[in-house]
Amino acid sequence: MAGSALSPTKGRCRRRGDEVPEKYLYKRCDSEDVPLMETPVIDLGLLLSSSSPSIRQEETDKLQSALSTWGCFQLINHGMTSSFLDETREVATQFFGLPPAEKRRYSRTEFEGYGHDEKDNWNDRLQLTVYPQHRRQLQYWPENPQKFSEILDKFGEMSVKIVEVLLKAMATSLGLEENSFLSKYGEEGLMLARFNYYPKCPTPHQVLGLRPHSDGTAITILLQDKEVEGLQVKKDDQWFRVPVIPHALFINVGDLMEIMSNGIFKSAVHKVTTNSAKDRMSVAVLCICDPHKEVGPATELITGGRPRRYKTVKDYGKLFFLLDPTGEIRPIDTVKI
Ligand code: OGA
Ligand code: NI
Repeated sequence: MAGSALSPTKGRCRRRGDEVPEKYLYKRCDSEDVPLMETPVIDLGLLLSSSSPSIRQEETDKLQSALSTWGCFQLINHGMTSSFLDETREVATQFFGLPPAEKRRYSRTEFEGYGHDEKDNWNDRLQLTVYPQHRRQLQYWPENPQKFSEILDKFGEMSVKIVEVLLKAMATSLGLEENSFLSKYGEEGLMLARFNYYPKCPTPHQVLGLRPHSDGTAITILLQDKEVEGLQVKKDDQWFRVPVIPHALFINVGDLMEIMSNGIFKSAVHKVTTNSAKDRMSVAVLCICDPHKEVGPATELITGGRPRRYKTVKDYGKLFFLLDPTGEIRPIDTVKI
């Protein structure tokens, strides 16, 4: 599918006189009256606090509670400065602002590169493997803007550290040995950066930027647009708007973590709305367990009161992308016992 179909400057919708192609139309998805989520805020520094075990414990408990109710939280004090986050947003916005022909130089193969989301979402994206490093396909890394690769490299490196701290804290919060989850992520954990661009849309009530889905990840690290809201999370059948906290990273648990925690942590179902006034961007860093490792619920979390809820999976990412993550049946439902 042509990557330029949703180009912000030459959108097909505008050429056709504000008419949105039918395939994008979704059941009414009015976003009015959707309450704002009181997102739990977790301070990474406190999770690491060595001077005060009680502060560390308190933050770890908060993390556990956030993940067993919402499946997500806002992370602050994560080591990336606000100016670095702004720079990242800037290079992403600059890339999507390039002329369509230039962006098409990076047109995707099956997985890697630039293109329009294939599931009729109002979304242009650039997806790049960041780790393992030897799997990087640098021909898809934009040369323009010039700083793009350097920034993505740094963003990836810092994300690895965040994954490490969070996976350890998540295991500890459930009374597990601290490397329990991290060892499944492994040295060869897959980290993909997905740059999302959601052009403004003339009929936002009928069109979604991303249809409801959960991620096939252990965790996802999301850098949101600094100003434009759009992400919503579902909890107990009710949608909530995720507030923009410019200096925070939004973290959500994905299906693999729900499996490893035997269902204690919730893989948050989320979607992205569109709006008629402003384009929106985001960067999702998808952190996926090593595809060669068998991943199942931690044995300590299988008890009389909580029997094993999921089968053991291997290369869940493959299964995930073969099924339609935004379809009626969630991929995780196929591995439930
Ligand atoms: C995703 C995703 C949310 C956003 O890329 O899987 O859910 O705000 N992105 O763009
Ligand atoms: Ni997602």
